[in-house]
Amino acid sequence: MENSKIAHLRKDYTLNGLDQQDILQSPIEQFKKWFGESLSAQVIEPNAMFLSTISQEGYPQGRIVLLKELDDHGFTFYTNYNSHKGADLSAHPLAALTFWWAELERQVRIVGKVEKVSEAESDAYFSIRPRGSQLGAWVSSQSNVIENREVLTDKLAKFEKQFGDQLVPRPPHWGGYRVIPQEIEFWQGRPSRLHDRIRYQYQNNEWKIERLSP
Ligand SMILES: Cc1cc2nc3c(=O)[nH]c(=O)nc-3n(C[C@H](O)[C@H](O)[C@H](O)COP(=O)(O)O)c2cc1C
Repeated sequence: MENSKIAHLRKDYTLNGLDQQDILQSPIEQFKKWFGESLSAQVIEPNAMFLSTISQEGYPQGRIVLLKELDDHGFTFYTNYNSHKGADLSAHPLAALTFWWAELERQVRIVGKVEKVSEAESDAYFSIRPRGSQLGAWVSSQSNVIENREVLTDKLAKFEKQFGDQLVPRPPHWGGYRVIPQEIEFWQGRPSRLHDRIRYQYQNNEWKIERLSP
């Protein structure tokens, strides 16, 4: 595609508005409300979120992960603790999460500190994953270089044999991280690029709410 065509790609956002008087005092409750609306609008993978971390060298690093739990403590996703993102989070336990719900012209940005969830929480979530995903967690040394795809299929055959008909236990290197929000911004697309932005910041044990210029 030519650059001139990319330059002409544009969409005006007209679906909705977001006013300070319409939002909930708790950003977690506001997030749950928008998430529910994403489900109703049949947004594709509404729990897919862009996770940004900081590498040991200080570079920003981004990738998509899936939100699996949400409560007053924060936003939880599951992964391999030995992956690149795991190394980033050991060095800098800080992250940003970004949701883009195109069908509703909405973005949510979250920034916060990161902690590992308890072993019991990781066990509980691992136990409800499909067996294929459970085996996959044993097979994949996530983020490591591998020679070819056979490395994966050979390891899968080995673990299938090892576990036979037994329950697949959670690998020790696999589990959850929780992003504890310090700041959450809700963005609603509006006409002429004059979008609505409402930001919550956690200060002195309460959420301060402000409108930002688009
Ligand atoms: C829609 C989608 C969902 C994903 N969900 C996860 C997830 O929940 N956990 C995960 O570890 N990787 C997930 N991935 C893969 C990651 O984007 C990434 O490739 C992988 O975690 C390795 O990242 P790293 O090398 O930076 O650690 C997902 C990818 C996509 C496109």
